Amino acid sequence: MTILVAGGAGFIGSNFVLDWLVRSNEPVVNLDRLTYAGNLENLVGLQNDARHDFEQGDIGDSALVGRLLAEHRPRAVLNFAAESHVDRSIHGPGDFIQTNIVGTFRLLEAVREYWSGLPDAERQAFRLLHVSTDEVYGTLTPTDLPFAESARYEPNSPYSASKAASDHLVRAWHHTYGLPVLTTNCSNNYGPYHFPEKLIPLMIVNALAGNSLPVYGDGMQIRDWLYVKDHCSAIRRVLEAGRVGDTYNIGGWNEKPNIEIVRSICTLLDELRPKADGTSYATQIAYVTDRPGHDRRYAIDARKIERELGWKPAETFESGIRKTVQWYLQNPEWIAHVQSGSYRDWVAKQYGQEMVA
Ligand code: NAD
Ligand code: DAU
Repeated sequence: MTILVAGGAGFIGSNFVLDWLVRSNEPVVNLDRLTYAGNLENLVGLQNDARHDFEQGDIGDSALVGRLLAEHRPRAVLNFAAESHVDRSIHGPGDFIQTNIVGTFRLLEAVREYWSGLPDAERQAFRLLHVSTDEVYGTLTPTDLPFAESARYEPNSPYSASKAASDHLVRAWHHTYGLPVLTTNCSNNYGPYHFPEKLIPLMIVNALAGNSLPVYGDGMQIRDWLYVKDHCSAIRRVLEAGRVGDTYNIGGWNEKPNIEIVRSICTLLDELRPKADGTSYATQIAYVTDRPGHDRRYAIDARKIERELGWKPAETFESGIRKTVQWYLQNPEWIAHVQSGSYRDWVAKQYGQEMVA
């Protein structure tokens, strides 16, 4: 048996592939376009591993996806491939529409064609698992209940709107064509191999470089943080036992305001890599202009996946963030390599030229 993972060179996808092959010998075909966010260095440990077959390409390339499905005959397809950064979606939504909506549509069609031609038993057992986000539900007030699976879709950014559209397509392909799909909607992840455009890795790399730590607005926006390996274990569990056609919300019960996250990173760095001048990394915090349309609070009600599938996160925020900071301290070369020319262009566009000097 084999699984096909789309987007397996990105942050969550590469963590998933690495964990999968630690726990099982079932081969992985990894289809990734290698955009700025895809990084084969994340998978360097699998270089000589015959169980991992990397194919560079686009989920929207129907001929390529059709060929991979016909050749490898996977029992499941897991879709992590997406444009994933909200700030980039504000500067340029086109790529988000193309990959997250059109790409998902083309992937669904290629998978449907393959699945329809399978013998009965394989057709019954086949699954398409679509990895999505809590951002499709919009924003919460401080007193609202966390998002349950029944929450209304109210996406507010071009990114979340494109993910919401992809979720709707996946749902429709199940209801209309019977495609055996599963959808997961997860909260904010953090951990190894996280591209330093996102809050947690950006704060770690900026702190170490002596740059400012840009906190949007008042820093009191709340996110619900989950260590990436817990997200991977939840996805494995949903693939294994999830009810076809259902969605599962995944979260860590770790709601924290951004400024608290930034301060906890500074405290850990003060302990693990104290600055020569004895000052705290917290002196580098700088409040900057807020993100347009910034969602105030996300929170996930993860009771369904716990009740029905017995999944719970293994890490607390304290254990996960310590592991994460340690990983970045131990991997300066990985950081240096991702901070390429195009990374510097992004930082200059988003935060100003002085941040790349
Ligand atoms: P990422 O940006 O780190 O990785 C995305 C990967 O997809 C990259 O390797 C990229 O090269 C690849 N890709 C992009 N367009 C492609 C295309 N057209 N064809 C093939 N590959 C393509 O993203 P991530 O943070 O790892 O997120 C993975 C998935 O999980 C996304 O669908 C995202 O919406 C979802 N998600 C992310 C989080 C989070 O906190 N990061 C939380 C919940 C859900
Ligand atoms: O909730 C799940 C989502 O989490 C995923 O679907 C997205 O793919 C993922 O990127 C993430 O989206 P966010 O917008 O929440 O993540 P980001 O790391 O960009 O920002 C987290 C919070 O920190 C958010 O409130 C904005 C704020 N922020 C972010 C950056 C990059 C800052 O204050 N300063 C920054 O420089």
